[in-house]
Amino acid sequence: MSSNRTILVIGSGPGIGRSISTLFASKRYNNVVLIGRRAEQLKLEQAAVEAASPTVSVKIYAVDATDTAALLAALDDAEAAFGKPEVIFCNAARVLPSALLEHDVKDIEYDFKINVSALYVLAQRYIPDLITLAKTDPSAQPAFIVTSSLLPQHPYPPFFALSLVKAAQRNLMQSLAETYAGQGVHIGVIVVGGPVSPDHEAWNPENIAAKTWEWFLRAKEEPSFEVLI
Ligand SMILES: NC(=O)c1ccc[n+]([C@@H]2O[C@H](COP(=O)([O-])OP(=O)(O)OC[C@H]3O[C@@H](n4cnc5c(N)ncnc54)[C@H](OP(=O)(O)O)[C@@H]3O)[C@@H](O)[C@H]2O)c1
Repeated sequence: MSSNRTILVIGSGPGIGRSISTLFASKRYNNVVLIGRRAEQLKLEQAAVEAASPTVSVKIYAVDATDTAALLAALDDAEAAFGKPEVIFCNAARVLPSALLEHDVKDIEYDFKINVSALYVLAQRYIPDLITLAKTDPSAQPAFIVTSSLLPQHPYPPFFALSLVKAAQRNLMQSLAETYAGQGVHIGVIVVGGPVSPDHEAWNPENIAAKTWEWFLRAKEEPSFEVLI
């Protein structure tokens, strides 16, 4: 029905965030919203998306996703310009080591807010809109997608803090999928099986984006909660 389509990326950075933003923009999305904390990095991400898709419109917001008021204000502004997004891609995380018993509990709580609380706020705001979109536009591919890993199933003690918040994040996504996926919204996780590296055969950002795109395209005929890469 509409050719005006928007993808919202929370956690815009040079790795998976960029590869998915650029690929999805080049394939389908004429509007891209990028959210991250660092304004200078966001300018680089905007340039990368514009280079991949010359006709795209990009809006960037330097916002910490854990600041709910600032996040919602950015989303209001983006929606005023682009309308409601068709894809919400939640990619924000701090991929950092955490030493057991030495790590400050405040850092665990901050990581929880990035990976779980902000995700919950985004779900509250967008799942109802995505369900409406699924009902009203047969050509739409409404999706709510998160970047995950094997840490939920296999915690890695040197990264115990990330392991436990990723477990909670996957758990929330499972509840959302069990409740709402039957209503035409693709709710799922990209499971990256190891450390992202440009040199790794599978875990390089371009391959992760390509596999995600194939999974996303198949979702209507073959809905699945996860793609394992
Ligand atoms: N890297 C890996 O080895 C690996 C492996 C498996 C899964 N993953 C998952 O992949 C996702 C990240 O992909 P990536 O590692 O390739 O990184 P990336 O896409 O290059 O960047 C992610 C961006 O998230 C942003 N971010 C972090 N905290 C934020 C916050 N509070 N608010 C807003 N934005 C925030 C950061 O930008 P700012 O600093 O500017 O905010 C960062 O650049 C994560 O979900 C991670 O768990 C990563």
